[in-house]
Parts: sequence; structure tokens; C-alpha cells
Amino acid sequence: MRVTVHRRAHFNAAHRLYRKDWSFEKNDQVFGKCNNPNFHGHNYELIASVTGDIDPETGYVIDVKILKDIIKSEVEDAFDHKNLNLEVPEFQELNPTAENIVVVIYNKIKKHLNPDFDLEVTLYETPRNFVTYSGE
Ligand code: NI
Repeated sequence: MRVTVHRRAHFNAAHRLYRKDWSFEKNDQVFGKCNNPNFHGHNYELIASVTGDIDPETGYVIDVKILKDIIKSEVEDAFDHKNLNLEVPEFQELNPTAENIVVVIYNKIKKHLNPDFDLEVTLYETPRNFVTYSGE
């Protein structure tokens, strides 16, 4: 029986969407207000979903405490109240779009999980705009 365990978390962070190798005009054309040189913030909501077999001994797929601790160290401590462009090494050269952020988060969590588990990460940039990634 494969069951999915979900854990919700959140972090606040600032970002700016732009490419260093494009002119300001081109960045403005493509990214609009998100190219504001003074950055802007989001209240990001995150759902990490781990699918695996129920361990017959414990009755758990994964102890949620373990998942909670991975998210805390890899995501909350790393991203919360940070400027993603300036303070988070993964985004020094990578545009911090929701799409790129969800892939970074997936990789940071996945490396701690038993390889038998499937992971899907859902990231809400706003209550209406969200992305998902499951390692495809
Ligand atoms: Ni934004």
C-alpha cells in the first residue's frame, strides 16, 4: 500500500526576476514589475508530499517529524526572511522564479529521503499561483 504523506510549511522571501546578461529594457519587457531593482517579497507556501509503502512495524510511511526537520533545515532556515538573489547561493546565477525555486527545494529535500520514496513539491508564490515538481 503506497500512501502519500503531506507536510505544509512556509517562508517569506524577497526576489527579483531578471537576467544579468539582458538589458534593463529587455528584462522589463519579459519580467515586468518582477524586475523591480529594489526587489519585492512573497509569502511562499510549500507542500512536500512523500509517497511510499507503509512500514508494517511502525504503521508510518515516514515519520512526519523527520520530514518536518528536513524542511526546516533545507528550506526554512535557508530561505526564510532572505533575499533569494543576494543571500541564497543556489540563486546567484539562477533566476528565482517559482519554477526554479520548486526544483531547488525538491533537490534539497530529495537527497535526505530513502530512494524508494517518491517526492512531489508544491510551491505557492501567491494563493492563486503555484507550481509543482516531482523530479521528471
Ligand atoms: Ni515575485
